[in-house]
Amino acid sequence: MTRPPPPALSPKAAAFLAAIPVFSYVIYHIINRKPRVKRSEKVPHTGERVLVLGGTSGIGRSMSIQYAERGARVCVVGRREGLLEEVEKECRDAAASYGSTDNDIFGLKGDFARPEDMVRVRAELLTKWGGLDTLVVAAGVSALQPLLAVAGAGCKGTSLTPMHTTTEGIQKVSDVATAAITGNYTGPLIAAVTFIPLLSSTSKAPSIVLISSAASVIPAPTRTLYASTKAASLVLYQALSIEHPQIAFTHIMPATVEGDFRASAVDSGPVREMDPNKHGLKREYVAQRCIRAVDRGEKTVFMPAVMRFAHLLYWIWPAFIEKKARVKYNFEA
Ligand SMILES: NC(=O)c1ccc[n+]([C@@H]2O[C@H](COP(=O)([O-])OP(=O)(O)OC[C@H]3O[C@@H](n4cnc5c(N)ncnc54)[C@H](OP(=O)(O)O)[C@@H]3O)[C@@H](O)[C@H]2O)c1
Repeated sequence: MTRPPPPALSPKAAAFLAAIPVFSYVIYHIINRKPRVKRSEKVPHTGERVLVLGGTSGIGRSMSIQYAERGARVCVVGRREGLLEEVEKECRDAAASYGSTDNDIFGLKGDFARPEDMVRVRAELLTKWGGLDTLVVAAGVSALQPLLAVAGAGCKGTSLTPMHTTTEGIQKVSDVATAAITGNYTGPLIAAVTFIPLLSSTSKAPSIVLISSAASVIPAPTRTLYASTKAASLVLYQALSIEHPQIAFTHIMPATVEGDFRASAVDSGPVREMDPNKHGLKREYVAQRCIRAVDRGEKTVFMPAVMRFAHLLYWIWPAFIEKKARVKYNFEA
């Protein structure tokens, strides 16, 4: 069955759509002016106490090193011990000129979805630093397959092969979804419940940065489980930011970033889009932008910035965004 083309736009509608990005950009900058008191006046960069959950690789690792480079105290958390030692050393080298000690920069093995691990990390921070200024929630897991493919059913148009999903296939989807929920929702949830009281009670300007994803607000094929679980933690943190106005929440919404994120997909799916290592955002650049956003107290950062308009456009002209998403993920139904 051939898909009907997206409806043609009238000149008036096209002009209206073209004006949206300009109008939104102006409004966004008026509303999100820099705060009068700079955060660095309350929490100087040197000595800032930063916890990075998911710092053994990728964006979290780059953020750990960049924070160390400017003299912050950095605690890196992840599950892979070997990588943890590597990043700990890189951070210590980066902070060498500040005379940082082992109490200023250290790694802790831990899973952010396990309450006992996070309580252990919190106890270490209290002992070594007496508190926390900045929480970076970078950890997350990918999932790359169309949902029905996870259940073992090929899908073409309206026909499925086999015609019905099996009990085993449905159970497999449930298991994969549980892994995605644990990595993308339960982890951020436990991190928030563990560290919000510590941040609120020990920092003069507490901040939390969640590395979310553009996929959590712009739907895409093959990203059903990934996007919906990232969306859940995004909305969780957006609501928490209203419940805790004394904490500055920042949500980062990147498109594809270079690195090995897809290799650890909870559904072991193939990469369908263009090679992230050739076409993705550079992780050092994303890390730099995250830190700048925290310094400036920015609420939501889309990367690249044009994704903010793609998100808005979805609500006005979904067929256009859906077509682009099918092309990006090389998906035919
Ligand atoms: N890469 C992209 O294209 C992209 C695009 C948009 C958004 N993002 C988001 O950016 C964040 C970072 O991704 P990345 O590209 O830097 O991927 P990455 O290199 O795979 O980094 C993920 C990090 O999360 C840690 N992690 C995963 N599960 C964990 C757990 N249960 N407990 C503790 N640490 C855990 C991993 O460490 P261990 O395995 O050692 O625990 C690793 O350090 C993710 O939240 C992702 O959703 C990525």
